[in-house]
Amino acid sequence: MCGIVGYIGSKEAYPILIKGLKRLEYRGYDSAGVALLNEDLKVFKSHGKVSDLERMLQGVDLSGTLGIAHTRWATHGEPNDVNAHPHYSETKNLAIIHNGIIENYGSLKEELINRNHHFSSETDTEVLIHLIEDIQHNEGVDLLEAVRISLNQVVGAYAIVVIDKNQPDMLIAAKKGSPLVIGIGEGEFFIASDATPIVEYTKNVVYLDDEEVATINRAGELKIKTIRNKEKHPYIQKLEMQLSAIEKGGFPHFMLKEIYEQPRSIKDSMRGRLNAAKGIVTLGGIIDYEQKFINARRIIIVACGTSWHAGLVGEYMIEDFARIPVEVEYASEFRYRNPVIYEDDIVIAISQSGETADTLAAIEMAKSRGATIIGICNVVGSSIARATHAGSYTHAGPEIGVASTKAFTAQVTVLGLLALSIANKKGSIPKNRYYQLLAEMESLPAKVEKALKVNQQILEISKTFKFAQNFLYLGRGYNFPLALEGALKLKEISYIHAEGYPAAEMKHGPIALIDANMPVVIIATRKGSYDKVISNIQEVKARKGSIVAIVTEGDTVVSQMADYVIEIPDTDEAFVPIVASIPLQLLSYHIAVMRGCHVDQPRNLAKSVTVE
Ligand code: AGP
Repeated sequence: MCGIVGYIGSKEAYPILIKGLKRLEYRGYDSAGVALLNEDLKVFKSHGKVSDLERMLQGVDLSGTLGIAHTRWATHGEPNDVNAHPHYSETKNLAIIHNGIIENYGSLKEELINRNHHFSSETDTEVLIHLIEDIQHNEGVDLLEAVRISLNQVVGAYAIVVIDKNQPDMLIAAKKGSPLVIGIGEGEFFIASDATPIVEYTKNVVYLDDEEVATINRAGELKIKTIRNKEKHPYIQKLEMQLSAIEKGGFPHFMLKEIYEQPRSIKDSMRGRLNAAKGIVTLGGIIDYEQKFINARRIIIVACGTSWHAGLVGEYMIEDFARIPVEVEYASEFRYRNPVIYEDDIVIAISQSGETADTLAAIEMAKSRGATIIGICNVVGSSIARATHAGSYTHAGPEIGVASTKAFTAQVTVLGLLALSIANKKGSIPKNRYYQLLAEMESLPAKVEKALKVNQQILEISKTFKFAQNFLYLGRGYNFPLALEGALKLKEISYIHAEGYPAAEMKHGPIALIDANMPVVIIATRKGSYDKVISNIQEVKARKGSIVAIVTEGDTVVSQMADYVIEIPDTDEAFVPIVASIPLQLLSYHIAVMRGCHVDQPRNLAKSVTVE
């Protein structure tokens, strides 16, 4: 979490930095700050959002062609002005911005206090910049060397940018575990946590690797070495991102824009991979691992949050079609227990951002035990994408709303392609079913487009429930993970307590919660365990619960029982989680808007969880 931006060149740095922070605000938004180097090194910071910082700085002299800026998601120290970044060193000659956690900051701080350092914040970051300056002075080395030596003493994760009042033509950046991209312009450089602040200035970028330190100067030089002092050649890549993809495009919120983008994003995730008429599914990125999949004894899926829910749908698809046993693990649990991992295991890591710390750590652990790691990521060039042996991008385009929407449906789509491609090659699925499923996949963008037509109806339903205190989401089979996802969406953006359950589990406990004040969202589409779900609806009704049912269009049975019925186009039960996501996303969106919640930046959350 936390977003960092840096600039060096001939333009005024402040407008570039502030615009960059706004693009990165999805990463953290509890405080923000900027440091500008003109003749002096000035740091300005404030708790609250980037707009609060901007307001505070009206009328202030913000000139300077070199600067760094930060938007924070607090880990060490509460969100306030003092703990906001950038942080000064002891002499105030150096300033730093940091994304990550310095785990051994406590012991480093103690040593520095013994050497007469004074700290004003509670952050781990301030300790790092003091350490850098301490080494610079005591060992008589230049800034680059001081940064490099310091980073060898640090345990934890970091993406940092350091500036020095006495070296106004230079920036130093380094990373480990947290992302950092350098944009190369004409006589100028940009540094950021992701490419979104850079894309409008240049398409030439270098993604720093872990334990690399970059020196950038006004003469247009970019030099990289590792913290072990090994020179590296910068590998320049072309950004494919378009500016329009990271703007709201007339929608009031990124979340709504991203919900509406799904017909396109689902199509993009299948583009060039699926030809239903010819019966072909090819995931180019993992073609070399196909045989491994065919022979696999077991697949383990690791992910967090919404991506974990997509993994559950993936489990159902892979077991259903390809007949390979699958285990779906929370990355945060998997990495800290002692799981059995065989060398012939395939571990699929799913992540929108490609930066989630727990997922990354789970990958490293499984890799060290010899497993093959396949990534399903949205962000091209992300840490997870680079840490895996092979993988498939979801190609959903940048997802900026903190609540994941289009990334989820794209992840499920790619998992569907993977399951079907392996099933076909393995011969574990009857040919006619395979062809029917491929055709169904091809029709998904149009069905999702049609499902979006329920928006107005959902807006009306939302009015009834905007003051609800609790919600229950129920589903069976493929719709159970979707119930979990629907509940998560509502929780994270509207702050209403919601739980997802397999509908049949209700009678083992949650049914005690049901009364006239409990709205129950049930995914009751016609395939799968339809009759059983109808019984569950009756159980809720008998206890006066209020039912919102997501049904297949033309359904006449559920409409007799439910208080509100939302129709979606018919599809195979395996793909209901894609089409039925739409009403669930819209329901949480409208309720959150009506409750006055900050939909794109819900409290306490951040888009990329780069801390464990
Ligand atoms: C989704 O709405 C959440 N904000 C969150 O659960 C997210 O899915 C999770 O943090 C995993 O992120 P990733 O997909 O980027 O790894």
